[in-house]
Amino acid sequence: MPAESPLRLAIFASGRGSNALSIIRAAKEGRLSRVEPVLVVCDKPGAPVATRSREEGVPVLEIRPRDFDSKDAYEGAILEHLREKSVDAVALAGYMRLVGPVLIGSFPDRILNIHPSLLPSFPGLAAQKQAIDYGVKMTGVTVHFVDLLMDHGPVIMQKCLPILPEDTEESLSRRLLPIEHEAYLESLDALSRGRLRIEGRRVLWSAD
Ligand code: GAR
Repeated sequence: MPAESPLRLAIFASGRGSNALSIIRAAKEGRLSRVEPVLVVCDKPGAPVATRSREEGVPVLEIRPRDFDSKDAYEGAILEHLREKSVDAVALAGYMRLVGPVLIGSFPDRILNIHPSLLPSFPGLAAQKQAIDYGVKMTGVTVHFVDLLMDHGPVIMQKCLPILPEDTEESLSRRLLPIEHEAYLESLDALSRGRLRIEGRRVLWSAD
């Protein structure tokens, strides 16, 4: 891709959409100057992320997995929309669903995810609660490439945060959120500038 072409990004989200909105606003305000969010895909029609993204002027595809016979058929339908919009890469932003072979095969090493723990610790749901319950003193966020396993692909970036004795799942989630946003913007900026190279499980960053 020539350096001047923006990375045409689809954002997949299921709920509130703070990560999706942070990406959309950063792109609009020139803080993510080589990324163009061209579509939001929402698997929970009516979720706040759908309304909020439309308000920001980004088209939204609301699509319900249960309306399809299989995961492949559901992802095949999404793929048609991604192709129509000439999408280059996908950012999962609170998309609470495993991505299957149809999408992974169509976007090899081009799908990113943000997860609210220091992977490989605490994959899956309620990562913040898992960290508090386990008793770890540090936690954080991970941005990684997506493969077929849950919260598993090569790690692009991690940022960490101490867990305070008084932390609850809510307070820790709240304190982690701005770090999630930062890590995702930095990772997407690097992707859009062609700075990320995968070697086995390692992601190597080149200079800008
Ligand atoms: C975020 O904390 C994100 O890291 C998490 O869901 C939340 C979505 O919030 N994702 C996962 O747990 C994925 N395994 P948002 O809708 O406000 O971005």
